[in-house]
Amino acid sequence: MRSAFPEIVSRMDASSTEKPTSPLEREISRRRTFAIIAHPDAGKTTLTEKLLLYGGAIQLAGHVRARRDRRKTRSDWMTMEQERGISISTAALQFEYNGYRMNLLDTPGHEDFSEDTYRTLMAADCAIMLLDASRGVEPQTIKLFKVCRERGIPIITFINKMDLPAKDPFSLLDEVEKVLGITAIPLLWPMGSGKDFRGVYDLVEKKVHRYERVAGGASQVPVTVGGIDDPTLDEIMDEYTARVFREGADLVQNALPPFSQEDFIAGTITPVFFGSAVTNFGVQLFLNNFLTLAPQPPPVHLTDGTDLLPSSPVFTGFIFKLQANMNRAHRDRVAFLRITSGKFERGMTAFVPRLGKQVHLTNPVAFFGQERSTIDDAYPGDIIGMINPGTYHIGDILSTGKPPAFPDLPRFAPDMFASLIPTDTSKLKQFKKGIQELAEEGVVQIFSTQDGSVVIGAAGQLQFEVFRFRMEDEYGAPCRLEVMPFECSRWIRPSDANKFSSYDRIVKDEKGRTVVLFKSEYRLKSFLQTNADIPVYDHPPQAD
Ligand code: G4P
Repeated sequence: MRSAFPEIVSRMDASSTEKPTSPLEREISRRRTFAIIAHPDAGKTTLTEKLLLYGGAIQLAGHVRARRDRRKTRSDWMTMEQERGISISTAALQFEYNGYRMNLLDTPGHEDFSEDTYRTLMAADCAIMLLDASRGVEPQTIKLFKVCRERGIPIITFINKMDLPAKDPFSLLDEVEKVLGITAIPLLWPMGSGKDFRGVYDLVEKKVHRYERVAGGASQVPVTVGGIDDPTLDEIMDEYTARVFREGADLVQNALPPFSQEDFIAGTITPVFFGSAVTNFGVQLFLNNFLTLAPQPPPVHLTDGTDLLPSSPVFTGFIFKLQANMNRAHRDRVAFLRITSGKFERGMTAFVPRLGKQVHLTNPVAFFGQERSTIDDAYPGDIIGMINPGTYHIGDILSTGKPPAFPDLPRFAPDMFASLIPTDTSKLKQFKKGIQELAEEGVVQIFSTQDGSVVIGAAGQLQFEVFRFRMEDEYGAPCRLEVMPFECSRWIRPSDANKFSSYDRIVKDEKGRTVVLFKSEYRLKSFLQTNADIPVYDHPPQAD
């Protein structure tokens, strides 16, 4: 029998998670919950597909690409998706691999980049940073990396497309360090690239994984060699490639700091792997390493200074994403819940502090792309969808015990803004309701100007379009959006509002906190340089 309000287990008991003893601890220890962060075209869809292939979801391996391709063909989620032929929604893919339960959070890229992408990272315990070997660190990688960094989640790097002409591996490592400020430690070293790509050398195991260039790509059984001077390597590579490889591997082994799991978990270093997702080379090797490197669901650091252990008997979770109209026929909404502690059982009752009431969790679903299946139980690290007509807000906590003091889910400073104008003044009531509900759902952020007009903020253009579409389609409140010439925003102290020039715009967020909209990143930077004494925040300040 679950007790009504069991106390949260304190940090003192943390060691109990190290050796799983109870069924709950065993389930926790085999979970890996992660996201892939990448700039469009780096190969995220391809890598996801290959991971699923290894995860035994072979019959479903075409699924991810099918989803991508459906952008061009058919979708039954939102009418707008059909009209535009794109996929707006994200889901978590769950699959088994080698006895592990993998929860892969899908972070959309491309034109469907939005605040949801950031929020999804709040539910991940680690991230795979996927880079295109010929392009290195790209703008969207930087944006997503920053969010992971702020959360302090460990990041594993996979440098993809080694079968195509690539940047020199050292300049790639250097780029990661310089642009992202994280130390890159390779655990594999590439043997050539492009048409001379011959495979990867495992720096730890001293094993060669050979790449064979056949249709679709193939790898051979790894061969253990006696180190980088082993003559076997000369049989694989031509003289020039072998020399460059040896010099590089020698430098890596002797000049770079050794890999430390502790520093990786702390987020200060990233282990680096090389491969080619499309030819399926290096993916399984990567996946096997990933299982041992990636952390199991960690404790939540609560605002009262204690930790909530995943193995706590109290079930807790938080809503990190809402998706409306996943099934248009039912006009339903799905709230995605990340479980943080305890065991979830279908039909259980949980308390939602914001609502001040218990909710009955009757209809939990797991997702694989757009397919759903009802689930009976789930564990920390798992993502479940709850079909619910508007009960939950993003950031809601669910708990079977005394609600723990969870930190707020962060808000992100938008970098696109538009003024919102109702085009049918007889629908003002619906207009207000739509704005309020869609802002609560996190579709856009809402600001108001001094003269009372409404400004909406977003991280991607698509958020604007979804917002406008849903205002008209769901609330019958047609509106027009006029894009405003601001490129970034920061929260400030209200008393500092008069220190900004008329060049910037002062607005209030939905909680009345003061925000400045800047014309450009450059303008923000120069402001910061000349006004070091005025604090600005890229998340709402806690004290406000
Ligand atoms: P994304 O989800 O990150 O946007 O990237 P996606 O996987 O769709 O990959 C983008 C393009 O890069 C695809 O080609 C894909 O086949 C290719 N690609 C991915 N990984 C590798 C790799 O390791 N090596 C090589 N050579 N190519 C790779 P496309 O022509 O745009 O699409 P498709 O016709 O292959 O589907």
